[in-house]
Amino acid sequence: MGDEADAGGRAEKLPIQGKRNILITSALPYVNNVPHLGNIIGSVLSADVFSRYCRLRGYNAIYICGTDEYGTATETKAMEENCSPQQICDKYHTIHKEVYNWFNISFDEFGRTSTLQQTEVCHAIFKKLMENNWLSENTMQQLYCDTCERFLADRLVEGICPFPDCNYDSARGDQCENCAKLLNPTELKEPRCKVCQTSPRVRDTDHLFLELPLLKDKLEDYINNMSVSGSWSQNAIQATYAWLKEGLRPRCITRDLKWGVPVPHEKFKDKVFYVWFDAPIGYVSITSCYTPNWEKWWKNPENVELYQFMGKDNVPFHTVMFPSTLLGTGENWTLMKGISVTEYLNYEAGKFSKSKGVGVFGNDVKETNIPAEVWRYYLLTNRPED
Ligand code: MF3
Ligand code: ZN
Repeated sequence: MGDEADAGGRAEKLPIQGKRNILITSALPYVNNVPHLGNIIGSVLSADVFSRYCRLRGYNAIYICGTDEYGTATETKAMEENCSPQQICDKYHTIHKEVYNWFNISFDEFGRTSTLQQTEVCHAIFKKLMENNWLSENTMQQLYCDTCERFLADRLVEGICPFPDCNYDSARGDQCENCAKLLNPTELKEPRCKVCQTSPRVRDTDHLFLELPLLKDKLEDYINNMSVSGSWSQNAIQATYAWLKEGLRPRCITRDLKWGVPVPHEKFKDKVFYVWFDAPIGYVSITSCYTPNWEKWWKNPENVELYQFMGKDNVPFHTVMFPSTLLGTGENWTLMKGISVTEYLNYEAGKFSKSKGVGVFGNDVKETNIPAEVWRYYLLTNRPED
């Protein structure tokens, strides 16, 4: 839809004084997979219905989404398919676009995160966080593969599960699939690089952390007020308070990767931002691709209501991490008011899994010859909610 509008030269929508101005987003899908029905109902289709409702009511609403393109998952996929991360993103961005187009999703803009605009907005936010002293440095120990010449993401290390009653020989660095216990990759016995099988060594690496403990009061004020005025659902409130109760700890916002937004800091210039730091900023940068006047939407809390749609696992990033990032800038951002959360959609008895080939995927749906309206209706009436 974005493309047609541009070609037709339609003016972009901007907030209008005295009207309800509603900024709608759905979680930016990871680019490295074909979307399945769970992804479609989980955020994109639900947000589409809300957007259509708002427009019919005569509200001034825009709906923003796009692909989440950076991080390890993309780098790994690129290695598997023997091409560059950019090529992976280009290929899958097009697939996502086609699938959503087929489902008649009425985005005002469907963009992507691997853009110059994304780098600009991330850098502007980062600089404010630095100026305001909300970032700290710390050294971590991480596994480094000398053969691949890179630090290994947790999931890229395998080894023997350290728990004696398990001893599973292919435990992943983040979790053992056999006993399900959470792990630290440095705890694995006889660790090996998943890509080349050589054994990595522990190496020190410096990173930047967002000081959530220092932002606690501002954050709690926001959550306590907005969860009431925005009528957050029980599942959103629960996931949020679970995070707060565990105690807010500083969160690492940088990674030793190449495929990401570069960190504009002399000491960290060879690193990139953690994908969960940059992804929500994608909502802003994609809006900046929609209109150069994006700040009228994003820095206008008095006149704009932000409604965000997502799957359950995304909640803390939208209620804790992203608001903290924005609050930390000290600028007057439009923070999330309404949140809509879906549970996982199951396929027959189990979870959807592309790698295991379980489920119905966006590109298969077309071939059924069942019209999009029927799929939309079916998914919406079966929307997995609490
Ligand atoms: N890519 C993530 C997922 O599919 C969602 C990112 S949402 C955003 O789970 F806020 F970071 F954009
Ligand atoms: Zn290796």
